[in-house]
Amino acid sequence: TITTDFLIIGSGIAGLSAALELAPFGHVTIITKASIRESATEWAQGGIAAAMNKKDTPSLHLQDTLIAGAHLCDKNAVRILVKEGPQCVNELIKLGAQFDQTNKGYDYTKEAAHSQRRILHARDETGKEIKKTLGNAILSKKNIHFHPHTMASSLILNTLNECTGAHVITNNTQQLIQAKATLIATGGCGQVFSKTTNPAIATGDGTAIAYNIGCTLQDMEFIQFHPTTLTMGDKKPISIFLISEAVRGEGAILRNISGEQFMHHYHPDAELAPRDIVARSIYLENQKTKNHIFLDLSPIKHIAKKRFPNIYNRCLDAGIDITRDFIPISPAAHYCMGGIKTNLVGETSIPRLFAAGEVASLGIHGANRLASNSLLDGLVFGKRAATQMATLSPLTESLPKTSLSPKTATPPEIKTRILGIKQTIRSTMWRQVSIIRHNTPLTDTLNTLNALNWILELSPIEPELIEVQHILINAMIITKAAYNRKESRGAHYRSDFSETNPNYQKHLVFSK
Ligand code: FAD
Ligand code: SIN
Repeated sequence: TITTDFLIIGSGIAGLSAALELAPFGHVTIITKASIRESATEWAQGGIAAAMNKKDTPSLHLQDTLIAGAHLCDKNAVRILVKEGPQCVNELIKLGAQFDQTNKGYDYTKEAAHSQRRILHARDETGKEIKKTLGNAILSKKNIHFHPHTMASSLILNTLNECTGAHVITNNTQQLIQAKATLIATGGCGQVFSKTTNPAIATGDGTAIAYNIGCTLQDMEFIQFHPTTLTMGDKKPISIFLISEAVRGEGAILRNISGEQFMHHYHPDAELAPRDIVARSIYLENQKTKNHIFLDLSPIKHIAKKRFPNIYNRCLDAGIDITRDFIPISPAAHYCMGGIKTNLVGETSIPRLFAAGEVASLGIHGANRLASNSLLDGLVFGKRAATQMATLSPLTESLPKTSLSPKTATPPEIKTRILGIKQTIRSTMWRQVSIIRHNTPLTDTLNTLNALNWILELSPIEPELIEVQHILINAMIITKAAYNRKESRGAHYRSDFSETNPNYQKHLVFSK
């Protein structure tokens, strides 16, 4: 058993910002499933949105966020995001983050559905720059202890129903970490879908372990599909790689197989329409032509290589020169607007358990997140959760409510079977619960997933099998929520209920 004051699960922007804030208040333990770098934060490309440009204001940022969120945002949460955001970004800059500049100051860029140029970026590797900055700051804090390759497999409740820490797995052995406050900052659940921009760690662990102890989740039907990922089709192994929305923000255009621009047929803002609309339009256009859609960077070919070096190099590896060739693209699961329901200071429905970042849901993003608001969310609300965690008194009761069931090694044939089932779940979710949804495939999927309940009864010690359990739990909740929301709103589109219905201007919540 390790005893600490504050346990942080996850080393993305939310976990690291919280850790820095907590360092003066006690012993902080960060655990992370892989290396410190492996996270969606590290992969973030486009940038971080904050109203810092002279012509911009927090109220314009608020307005854009609310419109993108399709009447489901919590206005108070968004108000905090846009007001505290610039201050938090300035602190990041003071810690050493270097965002791109011109001779007139910061080089703010634009992305879809933003009325202003307000996105700070470090070329197309903004996440890497932020991670480096926060990582270096953490290294200088003696109070912060870091445990890589350590996976939280379940949370612990005491007899007062408070969260007192987590069971973790390192090197195939189980350990217990006890803390007076625990923060879940485990990121998203993109790996529930076979096509995703997310890193391998994004298996929805945080939502699953919180759900397993009775914590409330909300908005899980709202999965954002990013419109543009590099798709090599049958010619090469499919390597999904995000082509940042900032590419369209700078002027790139979408073309169909005949080389025609088509986005203006779907929305007056064409390439810069909200992300859900662009993703759906590409999906529909793709179905018409039975072939790929392309991104054409010729209008920005003079800046493409310098401004987007990561995209340039990754595409070149795939045989595409973005200054000359069209990029074949298609949508993929990108971001979960839903998650563990929290209040404005990260508190969940379980005392002493907090959540921040992509795993949390406090209504900032509504039914559809505005581009580049996620890094800001992790930064602002990671810090706010930490401030609240710091106020907690020590635990008075450490007796666990239930004894720990021992985890066991899984026979190889069952392991192979479960890993095969994982692929089935992921491809079923992509085919039947993604960009366009309908009652029949949703019902089929629920039946398929329910028949896999036996997987949840096992107690495997292997992290990759626990991940399958978590993927299954997330898939079940996403599908149930998508089935129950009999309307279309933001990223959730039902072809059998294609209109937005004001009766559904509410959140669907789930608890075990
Ligand atoms: P993450 O950064 O994903 O970190 C989660 C951490 O939790 C990881 O360290 C992981 O190892 C750990 N973890 C997970 N499960 C466990 C467990 N069971 N036990 C222990 N540790 C665990 N947003 C923007 O605002 N701007 C962008 O430009 C942008 N670009 C993006 C590009 C890509 C390719 C992707 C995938 C996302 C992008 N996003 C962007 C979204 C944004 O990056 C993420 O939403 C955000 O970084 C999430 O931060 P986080 O701290 O919540 O989680
Ligand atoms: C991108 O660069 O397109 C991703 C931005 C985001 O997810 O906010």
